[in-house]
Amino acid sequence: MADKKRVFSGIQPTGGFTLGNYLGAVRNWGVLQDEYKCLYCVVDLHSLTVRNDPEVLKKQIREAYAMLLASGVDPQRSIVFVQSHVAQHAELSWLLSCYTQFGELSRMTQFKDKSQKHPENINAGLFTYPVLMAADILLYDADLVPIGADQKQHLELTRDIAIRFNGVYGDTFVIPEGYFPKVAARVMSLQQPSDKMSKSDPNENARIMMKDSSEAIVKKFKRAVTDSDSRIVFSDDKPGISNLISIYSAVTGKTTVEVEAEFDGKGYGAFKTAVGEAVADILAPIRTEYDRLLADTAYLDKCMADGAAQAAEIAAGTLLRVQKKLGIR
Ligand code: TYM
Repeated sequence: MADKKRVFSGIQPTGGFTLGNYLGAVRNWGVLQDEYKCLYCVVDLHSLTVRNDPEVLKKQIREAYAMLLASGVDPQRSIVFVQSHVAQHAELSWLLSCYTQFGELSRMTQFKDKSQKHPENINAGLFTYPVLMAADILLYDADLVPIGADQKQHLELTRDIAIRFNGVYGDTFVIPEGYFPKVAARVMSLQQPSDKMSKSDPNENARIMMKDSSEAIVKKFKRAVTDSDSRIVFSDDKPGISNLISIYSAVTGKTTVEVEAEFDGKGYGAFKTAVGEAVADILAPIRTEYDRLLADTAYLDKCMADGAAQAAEIAAGTLLRVQKKLGIR
């Protein structure tokens, strides 16, 4: 552990994972395990900014955990845990909130979007959400944070908070870097390609869920919104087709140029079917493994408990370091 660089990332458990979650982040989590000491977290506290049914949430936390393992995160090599099982996250979040400005949080686009969409519940947790995310990352001295493009602004704020704190108290936190996939860092909605693919999209056809059947996946891609002409080229004025090219490129490993050549002269129909089948093929084995893991209650319980114990040991050390700097220990 000592000399390997650290990786940290998190994912919300509510609503299942989309293809965007997978291609933008989770797929990289497995890949990074060879080279880094990785910590991966189901961030259930972050999910409390919206109202959840407690029984449903409890189930979703286990499902999210099982889906991470099924997607290639290995609990023998990485520390995989549930955020609320490690109390230090909430505590460091408070300390960091005193080093975060109201103006900075007000500028967060995710906060602005979410408060616009849900004016009935703009709670303080929604506002301070990025501070908890900063605490998640800084608690583990993470060097690298594999995320999709939509979390970039939050990571930049994390860096600003850490640099500010270090400036006042001397070296305390490692300054983390973002790690983004080369393609599909921002998977877009299949129905409204100007918006990101989101699990909360009311239109089911707009998103591919990792739990969708292969038939449903192919069907949703066939219905995907495309652009007015029928050329399969990657370009800013063709957001629908460009999104599909990125997805196909991400799942096949082919470059954008290779994808354009492969489908040159072929129609949108053939292309959409090919993308759907390629995505269905990579998600099918993950779904089988997910079902198997979810049924193995004792194994999941043990992994969660072990992960939390290992994470808590590191987190306790960091928190004490911070408390000492602040003069509260
Ligand atoms: P969350 O749960 O919304 O998403 C988990 C990861 O999936 C990525 N992602 C996408 N990537 C590409 N295209 C998309 N359409 C797409 N949708 C989601 C996200 O960028 C993210 O990497 N605040 C975070 C969770 C979090 C976290 C952390 C992440 C809490 N603490 C510490 C990293 C480090 C969130 O809500 O992600």
